[in-house]
Amino acid sequence: MGIAILGTGSALPEKILTNFDLEKMVDTTDEWIRKRTGMRERHIGEKETVASLAATACKRALENAGRTADSVDLIIVATCTTEMLLPCAACRVQNMLGAEHAIAFDINAACGGFLFALNTAHHYIASGACKNALIVGSEVLSEIIDWTDRGTCVLFGDGSGAVYVEDTGTEDGSGITGMSQGSNGMAGSMLYCRGRVVKGETEPEINSEDLLVHMNGGEVFKFAVRQVPVCIKKALDMAGLKPEDIDLYILHQANKRIIESIAKSLKTDIERFPMNIEKTGNTSSASIPILLDELNREGRIKKGQRIMLSGFGAGMTFGACAMVW
Ligand code: UT7
Repeated sequence: MGIAILGTGSALPEKILTNFDLEKMVDTTDEWIRKRTGMRERHIGEKETVASLAATACKRALENAGRTADSVDLIIVATCTTEMLLPCAACRVQNMLGAEHAIAFDINAACGGFLFALNTAHHYIASGACKNALIVGSEVLSEIIDWTDRGTCVLFGDGSGAVYVEDTGTEDGSGITGMSQGSNGMAGSMLYCRGRVVKGETEPEINSEDLLVHMNGGEVFKFAVRQVPVCIKKALDMAGLKPEDIDLYILHQANKRIIESIAKSLKTDIERFPMNIEKTGNTSSASIPILLDELNREGRIKKGQRIMLSGFGAGMTFGACAMVW
């Protein structure tokens, strides 16, 4: 059995917000943002929603895989910014695609969500419950960002990335070879967003700040550079590989310096860590599949190459997945 990604797709909102635009909104500079994060611009959803972006990314992934919506068994949307509590984004995507035979549900593991969704789909397929799945990371983070807080508002962008995964039934060695994931709820206060008014917790006064993202950036940074290499090593062990055996590390695009530090910790050449953070910012659960789609469409991922996906996010959550393309 080979459970492999056969197609990728992505969708980004039309509107672009540059560092120079942010200079006019908060006390920051293009130079500070570029040096401290690697970002120059990000996309911001205006008319686009989590579900509409996800549906577009899914259509592109299906086209790329040469499959149609009516044959999809499972749709999992990883998101922490869905515009409706009910129904879930995945069910709305199912409706938009006309994927009437699919099981559809959401996962919220914040920026780690895509890997959690991929891992879940892998188990569904490996158990025989499903033959294929559409896995999507989709976010409109701009809705929950405090646009007066320079410590967070310069970092995030909106977008969606999807992969189509299938049990290929072949034994050619391609597909997922190792997975690792974990959570640390004890560190949850590093990055949180209450998101709505909760009786007894946000009373008596509703503070609009309760509805927005709060982050201790330095602590999140330290968490990521410590935890992600450990998680990657677990997935490598499961696949029987060493860090140098991986051709491409496709990591959550949170900060260029975090990625450089992880490369150093794994004693691996930074050239193997492609990035698109400059143009997208941190799109949370969407960042890994958006980058994967970009590389796939540019022909930068070759058949037989060993790929590692890894990310981390609020929760705190973290995950890694090794595969042969
Ligand atoms: O998906 C997971 C989501 N979160 C993350 O991945 C966040 C991880 N953390 C980071 O990426 C970095 O910690 C940040 C980019 C958020 C901040 O970078 P840093 O190098 O850790 O800066 P810092 O927080 O230590 O702040 C250094 C200085 C401070 O000024 P003082 O106290 O030294 O005078 C900040 O107030 O930089 C200031 N600062 C800014 N200056 C200009 C913070 N944000 C900005 C800004 N523009 N946007």
